[in-house]
Amino acid sequence: MRVLTGITTTGTLHLGNYVGAIRPAIAASKQEGVESFFFMADYHALIKCDDPDRVEASRMQIAATWIAAGLDVERALLYRQSDLPEVCELTWMLTCVTAKGQMNRAHAYKAAVDAAVAAGEEPDSQVTMGLFSYPILMAADILLYNAHRIPVGKDQVQHIEMARDVAQRFNSTYGADFFVLPEAQVDAEMELLPGLDGRKMSKSYDNVVPLFEGGLASLQAAIAKVVTDSRLPGEPKEPEGTAFIQLWDAFASPDERAAMRFDLRAGLAWGEAKQRLVAQIDRELGPMRARYEQLMENPDELEAILARGAERARAIARPLLARLREAVGLRRSRLLGASKAEAVKSSAPPLVKQYRESDGLFYVKLTQGELQLLLSPGFAQGREAGDWWKATKAAPHADPAVDAALQWLRAQDEAKAAAKSPQANA
Ligand code: TRP
Repeated sequence: MRVLTGITTTGTLHLGNYVGAIRPAIAASKQEGVESFFFMADYHALIKCDDPDRVEASRMQIAATWIAAGLDVERALLYRQSDLPEVCELTWMLTCVTAKGQMNRAHAYKAAVDAAVAAGEEPDSQVTMGLFSYPILMAADILLYNAHRIPVGKDQVQHIEMARDVAQRFNSTYGADFFVLPEAQVDAEMELLPGLDGRKMSKSYDNVVPLFEGGLASLQAAIAKVVTDSRLPGEPKEPEGTAFIQLWDAFASPDERAAMRFDLRAGLAWGEAKQRLVAQIDRELGPMRARYEQLMENPDELEAILARGAERARAIARPLLARLREAVGLRRSRLLGASKAEAVKSSAPPLVKQYRESDGLFYVKLTQGELQLLLSPGFAQGREAGDWWKATKAAPHADPAVDAALQWLRAQDEAKAAAKSPQANA
């Protein structure tokens, strides 16, 4: 089970992101049998932000936040989207099977059109091609790793549906199940945290409590601004439904939740209650903030973690992309000398060879008689070439000549395996 999610790197994170997305995602990444992918969506950032320093700083802050919040980077994959330009190549392949009419229906695009029309401008005046194609880049993020489950906020569900459609269309155009169809996972927990004014905590409402930026002082200052009623110290207060108690609940045990309700009803002052809330949040976030600050002061450590994540992500992405290039026809010519028709007639068995070329890279070649059926891309590691071959051999192939050869080889493997363990077969 592969679970994947991306965070656009245009700003810093707030308490709502932590409670709604980061904390549950880290908990989920610890589950047995789950392979988690988290990435900084910095290609996506270019759609909304043309300030290079902001894109860079935001990426570092977001990466540091995930690590400080307890993500196990040995287990989960944490990487930066732009460290894998493969995603752009896949975006292009997907773009070529995506109907424009479907993209016309994307919420983000329609919102930009509505805003322009309301301002009396041309409908498309605010729309770059980046914004328009945004859902395809997002589909590529997901499909490049064949992720199954995508935890997202409600506003992103449409994008996951589009990713499914695009995947389906590619599969049917090229005649094989290259992609699994991803599912959106919308957690009830997500987006529940209220902001300072009681509405959902969101940068666009300017009502956020910063997560680590600004330290304890800015946490204190933000909590002081949480709206309450004007009951005085000593007057009983009804906690249910207040922004205050929801913030409290997000960081409190069941006993602590009950105790706070009791104290407020008994007349606890809002000021005192808020001090307790700051202490309560800081009990969880304080140690994380220290780690966050340490990472922000050591960009080299952070970059090394991200580089390692990108390497692991690439080992998964490369063999799939190689198969896709092959499938769409971005491949070397298969003919060696004799015409294809002649060669297919030949009864020579298919032959697989893995070898190292003078360019130092590893290749796998599938031939039959004079015919070259497949040639892999060059891989830096022999193991990567091996993985490519394993994945290629296991899957159906759009070209009947290649598919027949692969079937023949699989049958050989099975016969060999059966010969090795006669009793298991009896
Ligand atoms: N578009 C998402 C957002 O703004 C971020 C994102 C980019 C993403 N690629 C993704 C989320 C892939 C999930 C899967 O929130």
